Amino acid sequence: MPQKTKKDFIAISDFSKKELLSFLELAKKLKKAHRKGKDKPLLRGKSLGMIFQKSSTRTRVSFESGMIQLGGHALFLSSNDIQIGRGETIADTARVLSRYVDGIMARTYKHQDVLDLAKYATVPVINGLTDFNHPCQALTDVFTVLEKKTSFRKLKFVYIGDGNNMVHSLLSACSKLGINIVVCTPPNYKPSNEVVEEAKKYAQKNNSSISLVEEPWGAIKDADVVYTDTWASMGQEAEHEKRLVAFRNYQIDKDLVKHAKKDHIVMHCLPAHRGEEITSDVLDGPNSVIFDQAENRMHVQKAILVKLMS
Ligand code: CP
Ligand code: NVA
Repeated sequence: MPQKTKKDFIAISDFSKKELLSFLELAKKLKKAHRKGKDKPLLRGKSLGMIFQKSSTRTRVSFESGMIQLGGHALFLSSNDIQIGRGETIADTARVLSRYVDGIMARTYKHQDVLDLAKYATVPVINGLTDFNHPCQALTDVFTVLEKKTSFRKLKFVYIGDGNNMVHSLLSACSKLGINIVVCTPPNYKPSNEVVEEAKKYAQKNNSSISLVEEPWGAIKDADVVYTDTWASMGQEAEHEKRLVAFRNYQIDKDLVKHAKKDHIVMHCLPAHRGEEITSDVLDGPNSVIFDQAENRMHVQKAILVKLMS
């Protein structure tokens, strides 16, 4: 049934620190229960419509499995197969899906499309990545940091690579939770100024720092967390060759991570382009938590689903 009031999950910046921490707390409980084989059917009989305009492995499978574990059901709706692909408007799609499902998750190119879905749907809408941000991944990433480092205080989180959708959400998540973040990109690939300015305000409130730099060797010094993402995001395939040149000094390799703290963790949202933004010896190395991070998508998204849909 359509809900009278609903909450969407569109951007990390839409949530207070307290709300973000409560997602993390619930995710921890749900992960523990799942590990013990004690999943509770908190979304029994509910369904989630999942619209994908872009490819996905993790987002699709973690949401689908998560819904099943919660006693519900998920529908994969490739935009090529539903009428959006033939010109039906986002607004009409949102109105119609709201009559059938209890929540909508969407992965789109334009961020405005997810905003429009949220505006016209009467059920909660979850952002599964847009060209602008990737909040489910960033919430998972801070969950993984907390799991591995036990506290956010005094950490140095270093992101090296493209100033893309991923770093936009990481800037919001780190600044809202008081994690010091250094973003290191080539000069022409910096994150959105608007996101940085907003994050600076949150960071000030939470006694943490944000810095934007261009030189990876200095950036990574004494890092607790080293994070990277693809140099060419979905939709930027035509720029791949040009980007390989622009980012060639930004690869996370064995020599670079030597300058991080000994007990640093290496993170990547995946999919990785081995030999480009990260080398296989680092990705598969002892400091990598990348596959735990991928698993955690499911636990954290279950917390989001429960908070929004139950
Ligand atoms: N990290 C992530 O969102 O992966 P997928 O593109 O496979 O969903
Ligand atoms: N920045 C990447 C993230 C993939 C999960 C992209 O948008 O393709």
